[in-house]
Amino acid sequence: MKPDQEPVPDPFLSWFRASSPYIHAHRGRTVVIAIGGEAVADPGFAELVHDLALLHALGVRLVLALGARPQIEERLRRRGAKMRYLNDLRVTDDTALACVKEAAGAVRVEVEALLSMGVANSPMAGARIRVVSGNFVTARPIGVRDGVDYGHTGQVRRIDTEALHQALDSGAIALIPPLGYSPTGEVFNLSAPDVAGAAAQALHADKLIALVEGAGVTDGDGRLITNLQPRQADRLLADAGLGEELGHYLRNAVAACRGGVKRVHLVSRQIDGALLRELFTRDGAGTLLTAEPFEETRTARIDDVGGVLELLAPLEDKGVLVRRSREVLETEIERFTVVERDGMVIACAALYCYAEEQMAELACVAVHSDYRNRGHGDNLLAHMERTAQQQGMQRLFVLTTQTAQWFAERGFELTLVDSLPMEKRQLYNYKRGSKVFVKPVAP
Ligand SMILES: CC(C)(COP(=O)(O)OP(=O)(O)OC[C@H]1O[C@@H](n2cnc3c(N)ncnc32)[C@H](O)[C@@H]1OP(=O)(O)O)[C@@H](O)C(=O)NCCC(=O)NCCS
Repeated sequence: MKPDQEPVPDPFLSWFRASSPYIHAHRGRTVVIAIGGEAVADPGFAELVHDLALLHALGVRLVLALGARPQIEERLRRRGAKMRYLNDLRVTDDTALACVKEAAGAVRVEVEALLSMGVANSPMAGARIRVVSGNFVTARPIGVRDGVDYGHTGQVRRIDTEALHQALDSGAIALIPPLGYSPTGEVFNLSAPDVAGAAAQALHADKLIALVEGAGVTDGDGRLITNLQPRQADRLLADAGLGEELGHYLRNAVAACRGGVKRVHLVSRQIDGALLRELFTRDGAGTLLTAEPFEETRTARIDDVGGVLELLAPLEDKGVLVRRSREVLETEIERFTVVERDGMVIACAALYCYAEEQMAELACVAVHSDYRNRGHGDNLLAHMERTAQQQGMQRLFVLTTQTAQWFAERGFELTLVDSLPMEKRQLYNYKRGSKVFVKPVAP
């Protein structure tokens, strides 16, 4: 290069260097990938396997949950039979189960064979990949629902995480067929997305990836949706424009995300290299579903009324809380504090101040049942105590029928109805017989 010439960036070097942060980020991570039988049957499957082998070589701990639907259907066709589907679930009779076993075995052998390649001058040159498959999944029958006996169709009961970790620790790729076994020796037909979701949750996997048919999750104009949060996915699913199969994958993805898998990707298996692009480039090539980490505790606004009503309704039905109409809630909404997560109100509490007595009532304390026992109640209480204090209150009181112990364990003491502010005393409902607890709020 002459000294006065600008250096021309080498695209290979730029690309390789740009991918290095991702290589570091994925090394040692556990990734569960759901691969449908359609991908295995595709003539381009070898390329996908090469990409999987590359991920393995880069230190990713891979668990592959394999499907076998077209292979099962092909075998059924040859026997003049068909898989029955009811309510989005398969019905597996004896003939179908025989086909499932054969097809799952054939798919497994196919994947093992491709992962065993090591021919010179191929992407697998020098690769020595160990593959482990086994009885990792305990299942139970779906049973009879609405009068339909689903036969040998099962659902995941338990994942043997210890055995899977052993396989991964030994440097192997783990294969999970779409089969589950029961302690009584039965075999059940499972769906690959279900198995993948359950395995990812049980293993506390860093990622779950579903290789889907077509372009992936797209909006009404056919554009790929690159990022989604579970609540947005719920809305997409409710709109029902996704198609059955993609819907099934997305439902599973949402469940896994809510079950603690931090990142769930839906990637087209038909776009060459989409898996690598998704993992090693900034923009990715599929849809990434992440649990919204952002959680905010704030004063409620009028548009929170719906969310608060939804949160309180089941507790009002059980008589844990006194019923409040929408109108009352609308006029009192600014007394409420809400905890919002992923666009959803997951907890709330209200404060009613009695300035004269410098006492405040803590009411409507509620945490959504999916989010209990994680300290939200404690945090909310601490927040409400601070708010009461800021408003010049000396004491906080609460009327409760079923949660006395919870308040007692947090410094509230049982007191008499007579110690309530006059205005509140007059409204006290003797029939409901709530206990009154009070707690001083620190100055
Ligand atoms: C009470 C409530 C607000 C606690 O919320 P939370 O976020 O689960 O609370 P935390 O995570 O801070 O605390 C969990 C602890 O409280 C305990 N707890 C929950 N409900 C309880 C109750 N009714 N009585 C006694 N203890 C209770 C749990 O067992 C857990 O204790 P542990 O870890 O020792 O087992 C929540 O359970 C709720 O919304 N309940 C229904 C509504 C209600 O009763 N509101 C009060 C109306 S006056």
